[in-house]
Parts: sequence; structure tokens; C-alpha cells
Amino acid sequence: MSDALAELQRQLADIEREARSTLHSIARESELVPIRAGVLGKKGVLSPLLAALGKLDGSARPAAGALINVTKLALEVLFEEARLRLVQQAIETRVATERVDVTLPGRRSEIGATHPVQQVMDDLVDLLGQFGFDLTDGPEVETEDYNFNLLNMPASHPARDMQDTFYLQNGLVAGLLMRTQTSPVQVRTMLSQKPPVRIIAPGKVFRCDADATHSPVFHQIEGLWIDTDVTMADLKGTLTHFLRTLYGDDRPVRFRPSFFPFTEPSVEVDVWTGTRWMEVLGAGMVHPNVLRNVGYDPEEVQGFAFGLGVDRLAMIRYGITDIRYLWENDARFLRQFVAGGAV
Ligand code: PHE
Repeated sequence: MSDALAELQRQLADIEREARSTLHSIARESELVPIRAGVLGKKGVLSPLLAALGKLDGSARPAAGALINVTKLALEVLFEEARLRLVQQAIETRVATERVDVTLPGRRSEIGATHPVQQVMDDLVDLLGQFGFDLTDGPEVETEDYNFNLLNMPASHPARDMQDTFYLQNGLVAGLLMRTQTSPVQVRTMLSQKPPVRIIAPGKVFRCDADATHSPVFHQIEGLWIDTDVTMADLKGTLTHFLRTLYGDDRPVRFRPSFFPFTEPSVEVDVWTGTRWMEVLGAGMVHPNVLRNVGYDPEEVQGFAFGLGVDRLAMIRYGITDIRYLWENDARFLRQFVAGGAV
């Protein structure tokens, strides 16, 4: 072999070694392009060697050309191997980093829970259902007739002052208001059915009132039991049994004489919270005027009505000292009352 060929072979071997080590050092397929151009491209390191072929002896030329071509092929193979290796590596990295661990617990949005007042309401409705009361309801927007007049509370009646009322401005119907009590459901029920009547009507009521034990929106459950021989003894027995079922026999409960225009006699019932008496319901024997207003004959039928303050009962059940906590929508407060712990 001539010196020139030996020199060429040495140069080609250098180029190949150099290419090999460069290819080992790169990590991304995109880096291949400039390196490949620098070796195999028009301006690459092989080009001057090819150009130099012309200066060789005619006899040495075919061997030199063959040497260059073999190296060129070997380099092409090297570059292709490197490309495949880098593509494969990229796929493996993606598979490793983007893997979904199917054993992880699923993601879910936080699910709410029943509000403590609603829980108490549901429980009370359940319990009263067991006492034989049928469930009914009425509208939150009422007329003055149902909310007051037919309940023996005409416009001039001083008892209206006890219920600071939200009146509605409405050009079409005069005297609309947010009901201040669930008692209008008594009237609605009696107007639509004949005695005997034994119903409860849970729902929201509204008064322009706000302090630790009064909220402008609160909840009542109205009860009404009318039949031929329902007496004050039934009222006391039913409500006592009801409160004992709720709080146990040892909880002090007291009946106080009171006044409501639509009952006579009337009582209010307080429950001892441990620190004070809390009024939880008003009740009484339905006033003969109310019975007459709905077309019942007070000589034939009579009965009692009661209105439970659901929010107050919830406060007693959970030991809540300020009614406003119930409506501030602070999830940290509300979470404490979720059955079975925090959501
Ligand atoms: N409606 C009365 C109130 O809200 C409560 C009540 C209901 C009293 C039924 C007697 C009979 O204060």
C-alpha cells in the first residue's frame, strides 16, 4: 500500500473514531443534524478527502475511492444507529415520566353534605311522621290574608309588631310578604280539606331580625291537629313526648303561658341548654275565630297547633351558641357536623 493510501486510511479511521465518540456524548436526536452535516455533508470532513482523490495517481485512485466509500457507509450506519438509540431513549423517558399509576386513589371534587339545620329538620320531620302527622308545605311568599288576617291578626293587631315583616313591592298584587311564620299553612290546609287534619309543614320563614338567637331567615315546622276531641292535654302530652324523644327524659323542659292571636290558650316551651332556657316552640289550642275563618265549626271540632324553631333545636343539639354561625358558610364550621366526620 502506498504512503498516500496509508495516510488516507489513518485519516478515515480518525474521522470514524471522532464521530463515534461524539455520537456517544449526545442525548437528543435534534443534536444529530449539525453533527451529521459536519461529517457527511458537503462541507463536512469527508469532502476534502474526496476532492483530494483527483490528485492521486491513477493506479491508487480506485483503492482510495473504495476506502472513502466504505468509511462513508460505516459512518451512515453509525449515525442511523445513534438516531434509533436516541429515539428509543426519548420514548422510554416519556413512558417513565408520563406513566399513569392506576393504583392511586381517584381524584374527585369535594362533595358537600347536608347542612346541620337541614339534618335536624329532616330528623324532626321523620319523628313527627312517626307521631302520625302528614307532611305538607306552603309558599314562602304569602299574602297578608294567609300570614295574618285569617290567623286572627288583622292589620291593627298589636301582635303584628312582634313579627317585623319583609313586605314585597309588587304592582300587581298588593299585600305580598315573605311569610313570617309557617302558620299560614294551617289556614291553607284547613281551607282545602275537611277535618280531621293532622299535618306538619316545615319551611323557611323571614323576619327583619338579627342577633345571636335571631336570624332574618330561619326555619319552622308547623304542626296542626284538628279533630272532634283533641284537647290541651293532647297538646301537652304530644309535645312533651316529642321533646323527651329528642333530648331524653332528664332534660328540663318548661311550658309557659303565652299569647298568640290564633291560639287560646297559648304556651311557649323552653328547653334548658345547660346554661339557660331557650325557647324552642310556640303552641296553643286553635282559636275559634281561625276555625270559623276556614269554615270549620268550633262547636264540632277543635285542636292544637305548634310552631317549632328548627334552628334553635339545631343549636341545642350541637351546642352552638350563636345562630349566625349557621349562615356564615364557613366550611370549617359546617364540616364539624357532617355525619361520620369531616368530608
Ligand atoms: N307562628 C308562631 C310564631 O312563629 C308559633 C306558633 C305556631 C304558635 C302555632 C302557636 C301555634 O311565633
